[in-house]
Amino acid sequence: MINFKELATTYKTPLYIYDLDYMTKQYEELKEAFKGKKSILAYAIKSNSNLSVIKHFATLGSGADCVSIGEVRRAFLAGVPSYKIIFSGVGKSDDEIREAIESDILYINVESEAELGRVELIAKELGAVCRISIRVNPNIDPLTHPYISTGLHDNKFGVEIDAAKRMYIKANNSEHLDPVGIHFHIGSQLTELKPIYESAVIVADLVRSLSNIKIELKFFDIGGGLGVVYKNETTIKPYDYAQAILGALKGLDLTIICEPGRFLTANGGYFLTKVLYEKQNGSKRFVVVDGAMNDLLRPSLYKAYHKIEAITNSTTDESEADVVGPVCESGDFFAKNYSLPILEHNDLLVIHSAGAYGFGMGSNYNTRGRSAEVAIKGGEARVIRKREEFEDLIALEKDFLVK
Ligand code: LLP
Repeated sequence: MINFKELATTYKTPLYIYDLDYMTKQYEELKEAFKGKKSILAYAIKSNSNLSVIKHFATLGSGADCVSIGEVRRAFLAGVPSYKIIFSGVGKSDDEIREAIESDILYINVESEAELGRVELIAKELGAVCRISIRVNPNIDPLTHPYISTGLHDNKFGVEIDAAKRMYIKANNSEHLDPVGIHFHIGSQLTELKPIYESAVIVADLVRSLSNIKIELKFFDIGGGLGVVYKNETTIKPYDYAQAILGALKGLDLTIICEPGRFLTANGGYFLTKVLYEKQNGSKRFVVVDGAMNDLLRPSLYKAYHKIEAITNSTTDESEADVVGPVCESGDFFAKNYSLPILEHNDLLVIHSAGAYGFGMGSNYNTRGRSAEVAIKGGEARVIRKREEFEDLIALEKDFLVK
């Protein structure tokens, strides 16, 4: 049991707290599901990019799925070996491509024909051979929130099957490209197995048709996307997930790469915030807290549900309230019409499932410093990122004041 009161006293609020032991458990459960098969779990750094969190997974044997050269650098800094680092994203700059090739990562996951051309040109300039995979967009509806769907032709990600085939042929004929993998990722917070299975079947068929023309791939990258329980969702069991993928791969001997983010981190993270005020506008009740949308954006951006637990001595009946922060936006809320007892100044609210896409999507809006991050491992808590102070926020401006 995490002692949130003690953590609030020691580290102040607002505060991110990560239970690394929970994250280990999630990692091991997923790894176990692929037991006996060649597989790499490449942790999707975007879900929680704190160096200590990445290092924790690296120590367990994880690779890293990155979407910017900054994330690739984080992976290296945290000790992820180059041969387990993947770099995806629709908009890699020349500089990013160059650095990725020079760093000799496992592969660059290419997302368009135009990008393939750039990668080839830059590899040629460097006198290198760049390992690539191609992200295929299987045009399957992942049945998730439209903002986090990525596998439909309407989404900007990946290329159609026919384009992918052309690209593999081009890459195979190039002295500077080595096509080693194939990739798909149809969306995040997936709670249905069928779209994943259908996508895997489509992509595995492409692998077979490439094999028929003597293009032999080594890696079958199934992306991330495994959903988690925020409220009462029924989610996909890792074992069933692995079986579905293996079913689609029938007869193919490839290393499976899986890029989980949320599954590993979401429910290992908590956002701790303190009650400042209760207020009532007409019949509407508000609980104003010291954390805000700049700390945890998901409720504002996606109307995402996050469970809220009150730590209070209050014994009043619960009634509905909007839990809101100090930011100057009506969209600054953690929950709407959430049942809570009447709260006192300095009572605590624990916002659950905040380990994925929490801190990382934060900002300094309204000149608010980002919260500290604390990790708990084996019962010991320690700061893994200091709270941002005002001086940190102006550091890149103060010497550049207009005359
Ligand atoms: N691999 C690729 C290529 C991805 O684009 C993503 C997530 C992942 C792996 C990891 O997906 P996960 O296992 O975490 O579902 N900010 C949104 C989620 C955006 C996900 C973007 N891509 C949210 O807060 O729900």
